[in-house]
Amino acid sequence: MVKRLDLKDVNIYYSAFHAVSDVTMSVPPRNVTAFIGPSGCGKSTVLRSLNRMHEVTPGARVEGSILLDGEDIYAADVDAVGVRRTIGMVFQRPNPFPTMSIKDNVVAGLRLAGVKDKKKLDEVAERSLRGANLWNEVKDRLDKPGGGLSGGQQQRLCIARAIAVEPDVLLMDEPCSALDPISTLAIEDLITELKQNYTIVIVTHNMQQAARVSDQTAFFNLEAQGKPGRLIEIDDTETIFSNPKVKATEDYISGRFG
Ligand SMILES: Nc1ncnc2c1ncn2[C@@H]1O[C@H](COP(=O)(O)OP(=O)(O)OP(=O)(O)O)[C@@H](O)[C@H]1O
Ligand SMILES: [Mg+2]
Repeated sequence: MVKRLDLKDVNIYYSAFHAVSDVTMSVPPRNVTAFIGPSGCGKSTVLRSLNRMHEVTPGARVEGSILLDGEDIYAADVDAVGVRRTIGMVFQRPNPFPTMSIKDNVVAGLRLAGVKDKKKLDEVAERSLRGANLWNEVKDRLDKPGGGLSGGQQQRLCIARAIAVEPDVLLMDEPCSALDPISTLAIEDLITELKQNYTIVIVTHNMQQAARVSDQTAFFNLEAQGKPGRLIEIDDTETIFSNPKVKATEDYISGRFG
């Protein structure tokens, strides 16, 4: 099921360090939300708070509320591992299990969840690889290692792995930053297709990419080094890029930043 996320008064800490302050925003379903802003403003930190990856760092904590279709993902009776299955993540560098076969990479999450039926695993592998626009390139070498694919193919493999467990939301942290322009366009096309079935949040340093793939854009900024990052403005992507309300947003997107 496709779900929405609502953040309310979210503050995020690494031990005593207050990294992100007072974020309130909504991420609608079947929609792409882009996070933009200068290095260190907390984009990755906010993204990781959305599927409880943040708390994997010792001393890290989140205050405020993050609701998935109205359910608090930080509620005491909610299991963090389950949240990470429901809200999948794709990282900056493609991180397939390099010696594991392409097929096994895709179904790794299902295997972990105890699925053993070969027919079911084969079906999920094919559906996920098709969903990630990779099937045609790998269908004749499903048993070859994932590490033997190109960077762009590896990133699509990671997307296939993420969608194999049928998450509700996909988080992507600079998914194209290690890729060449052609692979980048392939991932962007894929994001546009995936948004019909998923709620997507993408962090990007590439303004054109944010403008091309996202429906709404959130601009984060830092007052000063050592101060917490803040959500400065969030609006339809078109508005953010053509008519932002805050001068800092305009300065950032027009490259007049810092
Ligand atoms: N594991 C960590 N422990 C302590 N502080 C951290 C940790 N990870 C990030 N930070 C700090 O939190 C702040 C926000 O970092 P974050 O990585 O979220 O920024 P970002 O906007 O994603 O930057 P970039 O664009 O460079 O990826 C920074 O001051 C950073 O140094
Ligand atoms: Mg980051």
